[in-house]
Amino acid sequence: MGVRVSSRGRVEPFYAMELLKLANQKRQTGMDVISLCLGQPAAGAPAVVRRAAIDALASGSPLGYTDANGIPTLRAAISAHYASGYGVEVDPARVLVTTGSSAAFTAILLAAFESGDAVAMARPGYPAYRNVLGALGCQVVDLDCGPQTGFQPTVEMLDALPAPPAGLIVASPANPTGTIIEPGRLAAIADWCSGHGTLLISDEIYHGISFGGPTASVLQGSDRHVAVGSFSKYYCMTGWRVGWLVVPTELVRNVELLLGNLNLSTPTLSQLAAVTAFSPDARVELDAHVARYRANRDLVLRRLPDIGVRDTLVPDGAFYVYPDISHLTDDSLGWCLRALDEIGVALTPGVDFAPLRPGRVSATDGSRYMRISTAGAAEQIDEAFDRLLSWV
Ligand SMILES: Cc1ncc(COP(=O)(O)O)c(C=O)c1O
Repeated sequence: MGVRVSSRGRVEPFYAMELLKLANQKRQTGMDVISLCLGQPAAGAPAVVRRAAIDALASGSPLGYTDANGIPTLRAAISAHYASGYGVEVDPARVLVTTGSSAAFTAILLAAFESGDAVAMARPGYPAYRNVLGALGCQVVDLDCGPQTGFQPTVEMLDALPAPPAGLIVASPANPTGTIIEPGRLAAIADWCSGHGTLLISDEIYHGISFGGPTASVLQGSDRHVAVGSFSKYYCMTGWRVGWLVVPTELVRNVELLLGNLNLSTPTLSQLAAVTAFSPDARVELDAHVARYRANRDLVLRRLPDIGVRDTLVPDGAFYVYPDISHLTDDSLGWCLRALDEIGVALTPGVDFAPLRPGRVSATDGSRYMRISTAGAAEQIDEAFDRLLSWV
């Protein structure tokens, strides 16, 4: 008898992770690989965070499980962060600490939606939303977003749906495009969701990495929406695996029970250290990284014409650029695999974010885009473009 394998567990690959795996394999064979495929800061956690972790280890604490919804000091620190950063009062009881924002998504999608529910998201959008929704039996509703709307959804797109979806996920700044939903537009989307019984889940994990434009939190308008945060991006604590959720009161208990069953708790050492990540000392260090991401973005925009790319939408934040490479290929996955194989440059194919739909070709198809991460070192980006220039 064969081993049982569920169809819902057969999710699409997360190609950025696949490319990373291949890049690591190539490195092991001695190839000099430049990785621009992952959205992870090159710098480590701020010094105060590392100090707090060292102190916690030195204290001899057993670092056992914590409350499923996180240690009270961290939940209070997150609540205080909303007060100081956004001017909004968030009851710490509505804050739940999670194992990266990835665990926050699994918990909130399970807590809020039934199997079969329709949940809308931008296309292009972060692949794990789509893949996890699929595994949970939810129906993904694509909102096709092109450069005209900054690759972000609009109220008009929601109005055009045949029926209001059970949920809507938005991300601002977004992955893969780095675009921000301007506060007035986010408020209009939030109002639309409130008026149509749609739960709005706002992925705010790239907040802090903005190059000038304001990044509003969905919590500023109402306590009926969900905000997701993370220490992985601005706070440079990617592998520490700490994120958070702020949910409406009615969802708190169910999310807590789900977290307690799914993960038991978030890594204790990481939680203790994360409390210090909001401190002024940490901010000085982290803001210097943001200045570097911006310089890297400008470098990529300067070098894209070298490979024939013109008119790329200028990202407002995060650490990605999402150029149209349709003059080079209509198969972004094959192209990225060849770039890795032949010149040792790892990039992410657009199909990760806008997978192809059988029988339906559209201008937003990811087969004509790639994503470049600008989170790393400028010299590496420059070298990658030197290689790409001679290759294309
Ligand atoms: C838009 C978006 N949401 C969520 C995540 C998950 O991040 P983490 O689990 O490290 O918080 C990522 C990671 O790249 C992302 O880009």
